[in-house]
Amino acid sequence: MKAEQLSNLMVIFGGTGDLTHRKLIPALYNLLNEGILPDAFAVVSVGRRNKTSEEYREELKKSVQQYSRFSMEQEKWEVLAQKIHYYPLDFRQGEGYTSLDDYLKKMEKQYGTKGNRMYYLAVAPEYFEVIVDHLHAYEMTDSSEGWKRVVIEKPFGRDLQSARYLNKKITHAFTEQNTYRIDHYLGKEMLQNIMVIRFANAFFEPIWNNKFIDHIQISSSETLGVEERGGYYEKAGVLRDMIQNHMLQLLALTAMEPPVRLDTESIRDEKVKILKGLRKMSVEEIRSNVILGQYGSNGEKKGYRQENRISPTSDTETFMALKVQIENFRWGGVPFYIRTGKRLPKKSTEIIVQFKSIPEILYWKEFENLKPNLLVIRIQPMEGIFMQFNAKKPGTETQIIPVQMDFCQNCEIGSNSPEAYERLLYDVMKGDSTLFTRWDEVEYSWRFIDTIAKAWEREKPLFPNYDAGTWGPKEADELLRKDGRKWWIL
Ligand code: BG6
Repeated sequence: MKAEQLSNLMVIFGGTGDLTHRKLIPALYNLLNEGILPDAFAVVSVGRRNKTSEEYREELKKSVQQYSRFSMEQEKWEVLAQKIHYYPLDFRQGEGYTSLDDYLKKMEKQYGTKGNRMYYLAVAPEYFEVIVDHLHAYEMTDSSEGWKRVVIEKPFGRDLQSARYLNKKITHAFTEQNTYRIDHYLGKEMLQNIMVIRFANAFFEPIWNNKFIDHIQISSSETLGVEERGGYYEKAGVLRDMIQNHMLQLLALTAMEPPVRLDTESIRDEKVKILKGLRKMSVEEIRSNVILGQYGSNGEKKGYRQENRISPTSDTETFMALKVQIENFRWGGVPFYIRTGKRLPKKSTEIIVQFKSIPEILYWKEFENLKPNLLVIRIQPMEGIFMQFNAKKPGTETQIIPVQMDFCQNCEIGSNSPEAYERLLYDVMKGDSTLFTRWDEVEYSWRFIDTIAKAWEREKPLFPNYDAGTWGPKEADELLRKDGRKWWIL
């Protein structure tokens, strides 16, 4: 790709926010370290607070020291810091946009960025619309001289209706091709690896279906609580914060058909078919197949209701376990169990495929230790593949024991995998939207999520219903137990 196409001015709305400090600027520093940040590049961070660019850079320096995966070297930091500028503006008001545009044009000249702009909306979701409206009204979205792309953080709407409305606003200002709806899970190394593992190996794909697979567990657990994001989380809850986006994307990648080509649209076409194929549940089914939880204090850690900016009577859920079915020929009859929550015992994201048991032949039944075959795709913090199968225990008597094969990607190839945001920012610069969600993916995931939200909105379980540091409410275990299964913790 020509350097000219990559060169750009990155305009961050929400320049003083958490995301910019913890993810965006460290990611840029790492891209510089890898030698792939274009030379013709600069950042203009827009924020409501008043401060100088020098003060702003000093603050960012501390964040890079804390969050970058490469340790900070002063010389390299200087190279990046010189490209970063702070621009104070109340982005809710239209008046300031003409001057902002003048300033951006000046920067474009100074850094030779060819009119290419990446507008990154790292702000609370209620500001997405107003910023996009102003950018359009002040003629800052025209791609005729240099591309103009917009990157939108999640959540994209809070239900199907609001997502549709927001999408209409955005497509009024930017084309679908120039709209990058970010789901940072898609930038994770092992998520990108799912397709390779499935489709580049002769021995996985033939058994990846309901003839051989008993069920699949997709689990993402966090040890952290809601931290400083109470204001946002109260409105989102785990359903909108994790399930509607990250967890459904994991599901789509695990279950999709092989795409006809490995290009952006072919891959997204297959993912969307899975989201479309999610079986709609009745209210009764939702009540027995979707388990909600909220953490309470365990004496040492606070409960959700005691956290900062959380109502003491909040009924927002911080945990969810659900059983879903995909209605197609490959997956008919195979349940997918999804589980995610805050303040669980460990930080881990995994996809566990449990294969069907071997036929019940008397001979094998004598062996109590016979365990099901498992294939585990470890997404984080460990990255790799784990397999469990049965083998003979060495010795004169025939005894069977489960054995494991473990390919640990971050142990063997190097533990410093790129952060999701590095890959994703670089992809926006390249104009590759494969790892971003297309509108119809968002649409079908909301259709599915809306029915769940509606079914539960009137009457929630009695919260809190699990102690911080445990695996969620007992009903989550019951969900699998009643199907004769259990959550694997490997
Ligand atoms: C974010 C959610 O999208 O993902 C957070 O808003 C969550 O609530 C985070 O903690 C988890 O991301 P990761 O990469 O740490 O698994």
